[in-house]
Amino acid sequence: MSKKAWGGRFETQPEAWVDAFNASIHFDHVLLDEDIEGSIAHATMLSNQNIISSEECQDIIKGLKSIQKDYHKNNITFSESLEDIHLNIEHELIKRIGKVGGKLHTARSRNDQIATDMHLYTKKAVQHLIKSIHSFQASIINISNQHIDTIMPGYTHLQRAQPISLAHHLMTYFWMLERDKSRFKDALKRIDISPLGAAALSGTTYPIDRHETKRLLGFQDIYENSLDAVSDRDYIIETLHIINLCMIHLSRFAEEIIFWSSEEAQFITLSDAFSTGSSIMPQKKNPDMAELIRGKVGRTTGHLVSLLMTLKGLPLAYNKDLQEDKEGLFDAVHTLKGALRIFEGMIKTMTVNKETLYHTVRQDFSNATELADYLVGKNIPFREAHEVVGKVVLWAIQNDYYLLDIPLTIYQSFHPSIETDIYTYLEPQEAVKRRQSDGGTSQTAVQKQINKAQALLNEES
Ligand code: ARG
Repeated sequence: MSKKAWGGRFETQPEAWVDAFNASIHFDHVLLDEDIEGSIAHATMLSNQNIISSEECQDIIKGLKSIQKDYHKNNITFSESLEDIHLNIEHELIKRIGKVGGKLHTARSRNDQIATDMHLYTKKAVQHLIKSIHSFQASIINISNQHIDTIMPGYTHLQRAQPISLAHHLMTYFWMLERDKSRFKDALKRIDISPLGAAALSGTTYPIDRHETKRLLGFQDIYENSLDAVSDRDYIIETLHIINLCMIHLSRFAEEIIFWSSEEAQFITLSDAFSTGSSIMPQKKNPDMAELIRGKVGRTTGHLVSLLMTLKGLPLAYNKDLQEDKEGLFDAVHTLKGALRIFEGMIKTMTVNKETLYHTVRQDFSNATELADYLVGKNIPFREAHEVVGKVVLWAIQNDYYLLDIPLTIYQSFHPSIETDIYTYLEPQEAVKRRQSDGGTSQTAVQKQINKAQALLNEES
């Protein structure tokens, strides 16, 4: 068992199983780079402020860098009795450079240290996620560009409603993701703040320069209140919320992919590379990736609720409860990164079954609104037209017809102003073409929307 950094006032030490419960090293070791980055900035500032000598600072930095190198070569063994990443690194540093390593913790506490690590980690993770979303959106635009003329049924209540283009449908997800990205960017304002120098809770008696460590670490600002600096986890809750909302968006898309690829719909065929088989039913090709993405919302929601509950009623300032902020965030970041990557690959390799879509959209009543609009064009009030079309649809269902197949004589028995041009008018592609209102499904409106979306992506890169 290693000697505790805080062992001075203790007569006995916890047993190994108690240490194991207390320890976070098995998950916070992933913060090693951030911890070392924070320590190098802290040591540099201590030296510039003449709190430690520049030779001591150089020794410390050299020691930290050698630890970092060995960590990435898998050459470091961490100890549970040293609790967390901070005390493990400090122990290793003193082992490597001697007593001077003990000067690194001057004017610092693990409380501002872990807060700094988490701010650095969250900032990097959010910047990565913004890039992944951008890439996914670019793929959505690409695929949409190929399907401005691909007509499919648009649904409400999962009942066929009106024909739309596949591009129009897919682009909806572009805009959801655009809002997620904008939320992440906004959250960065609150993530990009340095808590370093708050020390345990009240600041420090040493003449430190918090603005220098802020600058060295690339943060935009510092926390104005040292208690707030060490106890704030709002930015993690916010990040978890955005991750979760983005996962919820992906789960909606996943659900569509699952339905579209079903035997019942056959709108798309997923690539073998993004599907799996069954161990008993040889014919099966399952959309497991989409199902997993849908399913993983359970865990990201869990992580968000878990941290909300951890923070509820927690008094100022640091409490060990806050150690519970990490695993959920790490897992949520990992989950969304994976989901975005998989989803992008899945839609880039799927085949759209245009023929099936073409036939599907002809075998429904989703052109019923067109018939009503046609009558409105003949100066019949919409309510009256709606009533007439309702009767036509009822007749068609009872007599096994679709609107495009009903003979003109029958139409005229429902309303004399229906003429032969009705058949072109009812064509699904004509219905789509007519919806030219901004944001509508016509080719021109969808092209306009895609251009706007592309311009937004161009501005970013
Ligand atoms: N492992 C701890 C955490 O993640 C680091 C801070 C410990 N601070 C303390 N006063 N025990 O929260």
